[in-house]
Amino acid sequence: MAALMPVVFVGCDNDNMSEKEQKGTITKEPFGTTKSGEAVDIYTLKNAKGSIAKIMTYGGTVVQLMVPDKNGKMGDIVLGFDNLKDYEEKSPYFGSIVGRYGNRIGNAEFTLDGKEYTLAANNNGQHLHGGIKGFDKVVWQAEPIESKEGPALKLHYLSKDMEEGYPGNLDVTVTYTLTNDNELKIDYHATTDKPTICNLTNHCYFNLAGQGNGNILGHELMINADYFTPVDQYLITTGEIRPVKGTPFDFTSPTAIGKRIDANDQQIKYGLGYDHNWVLNKNDFEMSLAAKVYEPTSGREMEVYTNEPGLQFYSGNFLDGTLTGKNGKVYGYRSGFCLETQHYPDSPNKPNFPPVVLRPGQVYQTTTIYKFSTK
Ligand code: GLA
Repeated sequence: MAALMPVVFVGCDNDNMSEKEQKGTITKEPFGTTKSGEAVDIYTLKNAKGSIAKIMTYGGTVVQLMVPDKNGKMGDIVLGFDNLKDYEEKSPYFGSIVGRYGNRIGNAEFTLDGKEYTLAANNNGQHLHGGIKGFDKVVWQAEPIESKEGPALKLHYLSKDMEEGYPGNLDVTVTYTLTNDNELKIDYHATTDKPTICNLTNHCYFNLAGQGNGNILGHELMINADYFTPVDQYLITTGEIRPVKGTPFDFTSPTAIGKRIDANDQQIKYGLGYDHNWVLNKNDFEMSLAAKVYEPTSGREMEVYTNEPGLQFYSGNFLDGTLTGKNGKVYGYRSGFCLETQHYPDSPNKPNFPPVVLRPGQVYQTTTIYKFSTK
């Protein structure tokens, strides 16, 4: 029996909450050793409502997320694997932190302060999700921390100067909090010692009916965005910011994901379905509602709040039944969806997009909340 770390009680001083409600717990267990010999741990965060998030230090990955359905029955709503080996060998970024630059950079190159930087072309000649060994494939240092909101885990990684071709030593901290209001809150923080680019996100694949329980086409999605950024055949943004009105990309009111996913539309064809960035309706970088998803059979609902300007909605088009995940569940076509909060894809090469440059003395700080409820 693996040595369990002593339970950490995470107090909050809300006088009218019962003793039990005020408590959340964190436990730690070993989860294996990477091929390069690094030990990996998995932390179990349990909040006062009994919801659970399991997070491992490899990739800062959300391995499990248990939240109640309309009957109060707990279910795991994120795709993933039971063991480290599968994550190392075949994970399409299931649940991991993504960086240094989430999503794509065209031709795997960008220019900063007149200097050209070449990155790994790890996706059809383009650069994707931080390169060959992105933040999803490194082991993060972890520290359970006290938080008034609920159990929290602080992860730290120092990305060295020119790692994967990016300039600057980037000091990154990502804190996951499983609040007692059934929110998975993710705080991203980074500083650099040289001018660089930074665009961090999380790559959970959700299925609110439960991981492995069929496809997500019946989920009803609302995206708080009147515009999106069209792409070319390499899924690189063209620079245009296009209205969603009258297109299959209009999710301003709740619509079944499957309703128009096979429409005869060039952007749908390029995305092989949905795999695009939406321009969120907001002033500057305010914290606001980005999206809402409802799954009718379970009654589960997820709201996404963020101070990021964009949201990548990916409908799991590359999932094709070749991956077997937790509890032997086979992940068929479109059996999970991602809502990746972000700055827009290829922003380093798009001067009209919100900038992603980080300079010494500046602090990169973003927050995203996935809030769960039922109806
Ligand atoms: C992101 C991309 C998709 C795909 C997935 C991971 O969501 O936009 O094209 O690469 O990551 O497989």
